[in-house]
Amino acid sequence: MYDKNVPYNDLPDLPPRGIDLSNIYKPLIASSRSLAQFNGAIKNLPNPHLFIDTIHLQEAKGSSEIENIVTTNERLYEQIVADKKYQNNSEKEVINYKKALFHGLAALEKRPFLHTNLYVEIMQIIKENTSGIRNTPGTILAGSDGKPVYTPPTGEQVIREKLAQLDEFINTNEEHDPLIKLAMIHYQFEAIHPFTDGNGRTGRIIMLLYLKMSGLLELPALYLSEYIISHKNEYYRKLNAVTAGNDWEAWIIYVLEMVDHAAIKGINRLDSITQIMEDTAKDIKNELPKIYSKELVEVLFYLPYTKRQALVDADLGTAKTVGNYLKELENKGFLISKKVGKEVLYLNHRLMAVLN
Ligand SMILES: Nc1ncnc2c1ncn2[C@@H]1O[C@H](COP(=O)(O)OP(=O)(O)O)[C@@H](O)[C@H]1O
Ligand SMILES: [Mg+2]
Repeated sequence: MYDKNVPYNDLPDLPPRGIDLSNIYKPLIASSRSLAQFNGAIKNLPNPHLFIDTIHLQEAKGSSEIENIVTTNERLYEQIVADKKYQNNSEKEVINYKKALFHGLAALEKRPFLHTNLYVEIMQIIKENTSGIRNTPGTILAGSDGKPVYTPPTGEQVIREKLAQLDEFINTNEEHDPLIKLAMIHYQFEAIHPFTDGNGRTGRIIMLLYLKMSGLLELPALYLSEYIISHKNEYYRKLNAVTAGNDWEAWIIYVLEMVDHAAIKGINRLDSITQIMEDTAKDIKNELPKIYSKELVEVLFYLPYTKRQALVDADLGTAKTVGNYLKELENKGFLISKKVGKEVLYLNHRLMAVLN
């Protein structure tokens, strides 16, 4: 019998048996369509890689926020563009999160396979430490009232066996649709809770990696955590209802709705960014024809902040020339300058407005 106060070493392996999935087909079809449309929208972008950092950073920020690691878009992007060292730990963990996601994506490029060692590497990059699988007892998940909600399996060997079984399910099981598997994988990873900390974030990176690996998304630039932030209690409640009541259906529907919302919002956000980029290009061409170039506009939209060196790196001119470009762009209201440490950063406020 399951007892929330006792390590759940009897956590069943995937796939779950004897579950009722009669209500998932509608949301499954809806989310599959939205996701396919989003995938198409990304592939049709003239330069998909242009927005990828920005979108991944949104997910990194959101996923960290679920774990109460909170920063603002301004602080985060400023930190990325400026040379200045971290002022506080939140931005550092968010930037680490993005690095961990890229590490995972690079690993998949080499070998399309999700496995325990990769999860450990991801967690270590996020946490910037060298810890591994939990090997001491005492990890208990508590609710907002501080009372125990769930006690994950204990014992490194037990945890490793459960992860190995999860790996096998991820990489070989073809019984279920990938989006249903996505929900099963996320639950299972969180229920195993292999680390002392970083399980939520690593588990959400695994979702993006799985979407990439299963071929559903070429560039997994999906802001899934936005949905979780606005449906956070449900997230915890439904994860727990699988453990306590075998309620897989409600959990799977939650994940499908998360994918659907993220894909639809993603399409709209891509549209907005593409639109303001076109408008900005047109306006710069009109108002500053001498400095306009397609490459210049791309630099301004790579991240919401830019600086002189970024323009130099893009071969737009010498430091002096591009410094004048930035000043003229500011005079015409395209950019707003801000001094950070010894540097001057330039905010593309139109782009930032879409992100905020
Ligand atoms: N009842 C539960 N059963 C399984 N997993 C849960 C439950 N409640 C919360 N979780 C998962 O645990 C995560 C938090 O674990 P934690 O190791 O602190 O992650 P992070 O360091 O990324 O903060 C949540 O984001 C959620 O995914
Ligand atoms: Mg935590």
